[in-house]
Amino acid sequence: MKFYPNIFIVKNEYHFVIIPKNNAQVSIKIDGKRYYEVNGGIIPTADDVHKIIIPQSVLDKAGKYTVIIRDVIDKKTYFPEFKEEVEYQFDFKNDSVNNLKAYYLADIHGMYDIAKNLVKPHNGVDFIIINGDYGECDKKEDIYRLNEFIGQITLGSIPVLFVRGNHDTRGRFAEYLYKYVGMDGQKGYFKFNFRSLSGLALDCGEDKWDSSVEYNYSNVFEDYRKQELKFIKNAKFSKDKYLFAVSHTSFMLKNSMNGIFDIDYATFNKWAKALNSKGLNFMLCGHIHYFLVSPPSEADHQPHNYPVITGSQVSKDYKNLYGTLIEFSNGKTTFTFLGEDGEAFPKYVVNA
Ligand SMILES: [Fe+2]
Repeated sequence: MKFYPNIFIVKNEYHFVIIPKNNAQVSIKIDGKRYYEVNGGIIPTADDVHKIIIPQSVLDKAGKYTVIIRDVIDKKTYFPEFKEEVEYQFDFKNDSVNNLKAYYLADIHGMYDIAKNLVKPHNGVDFIIINGDYGECDKKEDIYRLNEFIGQITLGSIPVLFVRGNHDTRGRFAEYLYKYVGMDGQKGYFKFNFRSLSGLALDCGEDKWDSSVEYNYSNVFEDYRKQELKFIKNAKFSKDKYLFAVSHTSFMLKNSMNGIFDIDYATFNKWAKALNSKGLNFMLCGHIHYFLVSPPSEADHQPHNYPVITGSQVSKDYKNLYGTLIEFSNGKTTFTFLGEDGEAFPKYVVNA
């Protein structure tokens, strides 16, 4: 494998992204059962990236898995030839259901070395949240750097909740991002569950109109947001879990929606009203590049009856990045912001 397995949280599933060194069949074995990529009955070998979807309950129970790689010698039409299978075993952290810890990052913008050092002191976390703007993807290697980074911070032993940001829609290769990260097919919005947590991953698309000269009708995000509205309206949750949404762009805050960035008010207003009916404990955002806790308000750009927590900070020279430790315990969620001001930025606690 080029990198450690990347495991993404999507719906009730773990989406494994495996990138072998050569063209190969890839499968995952858990408790003696093999899981393959679903491709109309064919085990795919032609693509560089493989996505294998496994129910969370299966891996959470087992606490370990084996990746099996079978390199292609020649996948000719008849009598295809393969090398011997090679197995790689991994442990998977499954020791906590109710007292979960996450490290939250957004707006990495290619600063992987800094981001790695941020996560390192929090080795015991149960999962990582990466909320958009890892960077533009002009070529496949730009996404590989993200996959490599995720492998380095998780060692294939904890999952990631990945949400797409506006920069992640830019570049020649952005249309293939969905293959390399956890999304719902090609959609960047989906429900997620993870043990005692549940919520919504939201995708605002670009930060300017589709007609902006910067994008020159590369996208149809105005329509995409309308489709996403239907999904938000239909999303239902059980009441016994921590419930939150993750959206890169804080579409409800004046801090994000001003000047040329103040787009699609009518659709976002419908999003805001629908989200206010969900009973969210909080929403996590990035995008503005400074820490901010925005308490529930009717008078923001859009109304929100939950706090909006912007948990990423980027220095103005784009040389430093900061994230947030999030701890879920006893019905409370505690946010520890570790930024330029260190401990000076006060902790924030949300009661579920
Ligand atoms: Fe950003």
